[in-house]
Amino acid sequence: MLGPTNRARPRQRRTTTGASPHRVGEHAIRWRDPFSSRSAVRTTIAFERAPEDHGPAQVVPTDIRVLWRRSSTRGAARRTLRVSFPRDADVYGLGEAAGPLRRNGRRLTLWNADHYAYDESTPSLYQSHPWVLGVRPDGSAFGILWDSTCRSRVWCGPGVLSVRASDADFAVYTLDAPSPRMVMEQLATLIGRPPLPPLWALGFHQSRYSYYPESEVRRIADEMRTRRIPCDALWLDIHYMRGNRSFTFDPDRFPDPAALIAHLHGRSLRTVVMIDPGLKVDPDYHAYASGVENGAFVRDHTGREYRGEVWPGACAFPDYASAAVRSWWGDLYQPLISLGIDGFWNDMNEPAIFDGPGRTMPESNIHLADPEIGGPTTHARIHNIYGTLMVRATREGVSRHRPDRRAFVLTRANFLGGHRYAATWTGDNSSTWEHLAWSITMALNLGLSGQAMSGPDIGGFEGNASGTLFARWMGIGAMLPFCRAHTDVWTREHEPWSWGPAVEATCRRAILRRYRLLPFWYTLFHEASTTGVPPVRPLWFLDPCDPSLRGANDAFMLGEALMVRCRVEESGECRSPMPRGTWRPLELVECHDPDLPELWLRAGSILPVGPSLQHTGERPLDRLWLHVA
Ligand code: NOJ
Repeated sequence: MLGPTNRARPRQRRTTTGASPHRVGEHAIRWRDPFSSRSAVRTTIAFERAPEDHGPAQVVPTDIRVLWRRSSTRGAARRTLRVSFPRDADVYGLGEAAGPLRRNGRRLTLWNADHYAYDESTPSLYQSHPWVLGVRPDGSAFGILWDSTCRSRVWCGPGVLSVRASDADFAVYTLDAPSPRMVMEQLATLIGRPPLPPLWALGFHQSRYSYYPESEVRRIADEMRTRRIPCDALWLDIHYMRGNRSFTFDPDRFPDPAALIAHLHGRSLRTVVMIDPGLKVDPDYHAYASGVENGAFVRDHTGREYRGEVWPGACAFPDYASAAVRSWWGDLYQPLISLGIDGFWNDMNEPAIFDGPGRTMPESNIHLADPEIGGPTTHARIHNIYGTLMVRATREGVSRHRPDRRAFVLTRANFLGGHRYAATWTGDNSSTWEHLAWSITMALNLGLSGQAMSGPDIGGFEGNASGTLFARWMGIGAMLPFCRAHTDVWTREHEPWSWGPAVEATCRRAILRRYRLLPFWYTLFHEASTTGVPPVRPLWFLDPCDPSLRGANDAFMLGEALMVRCRVEESGECRSPMPRGTWRPLELVECHDPDLPELWLRAGSILPVGPSLQHTGERPLDRLWLHVA
């Protein structure tokens, strides 16, 4: 075995910190806030269930120290947390942020935010993951999880993680194990493992803002099949709705949604539709009216229904922090499920509000949160989990109304642990080479933060892609866990055939590769759903002792067998070093295409490969080729 998994490390001693560490797992310790007067530890929804307390931790790692400082700003208590660790460790995780894979030196703010065309300097994106994974030079690993949903400013300094949280009382969990893999497995015992997605969700998805009217949707379906571009799903963005009202269809653009969906099913294509949280204030709109009847909406600090502008105009926002509201919300999906809609896309759920402070709702708004979330509270505490609670409501509702099928939900906003409810994409990226490169590092760090299924808008959302950029992006996107082309309302056509036959041929090959790898993808997702280890992994995951791999940004592993080496600049080669060992080049389509990333099979592995397919249901995955290296 590569790495130090079985090596004993004599690095343990009695704790000297005053934060009363308790063991909560084989490799996990909880540190209570030493200034807190509470006897119970409040746990957030990051956890699958409250971590079991195995009593005081007798030994703790000596190279990790947890220090707290309390302060107050305008009367509100705050905490500064400093967790020191070896200066020569590399750190990863922190969920969704553009930039290089390694997080050393990085400053971020955990505060879910809608950020169109973000870049490396954007302090916060759509998701918050209060979690860092560290790797020591000897390949052993540690994790730090701070259990606060409040806004926190994070700095990964040399040998120290500094967190300034607008929160007065939260626990910290430190994980420590001989390998990064074991830390990820331990993390999964705390925050849960990702559900196995339906097989079709692992296929290729085509989307844009927006395909309408329905004749346009049929045209895209026809093009896919006539041109023999493998595809499993077409996506409907907001223009399918009546005046941007979630849970409705525009009667002129989509007069017969059931017939359209049946037509797409006839072509073996699934339909995924967008559902936004903001419901238009309109007493004649069923979703809003029933929300009022059920007392379902978030209130402002005076107790009145809070309203903010989103696509439909003034909207009210469900208070997903209450189980009763989540149940009401879940039931709204029933008619869409009856129509045969296969998947649901929850967007704008940071929540994004055009006229709100900081483009979201005021922090003083009131949520009638259930006791499990800490009871009634302000938006300041719920903000970062608003999207997670929304997709929890969506997933539970969809599963309740279609119990015989695995649900598929995609979300933009989320929080650590929210992978239990939804897959994710990396939001409104741009059609640039830089963003192509960040697609890889973002998916890897999301995976190291528990989110197994993520991917970028292939081709970029903002701006027009060139043919070369689109072709390369399809090649790389087809090797990331969630594979969907999507683009903005203002851009040129961004379908695989939009730049002529050469780009189309590269896209076809890229997607065919993905479909041939389906048995492998499915196995990797099964592994993720049983262990928490993500399907796509950094190169160093394979050999955590090799320091040269720690900053590999443009190559990654599918499982332990297949390395993907990418060209993320218009000219130039893959910069990542080759990991140690013997590697065999592999091709799965009819010819070598320089715009596709190189695939390398690791000696000692067996790779299952299926037939070329046009969609995942074309034939059972019973005919396998085994590539044995
Ligand atoms: C913002 C999302 O990020 C984007 O993907 C979508 O197309 C637009 N909202 C319109 O719904």
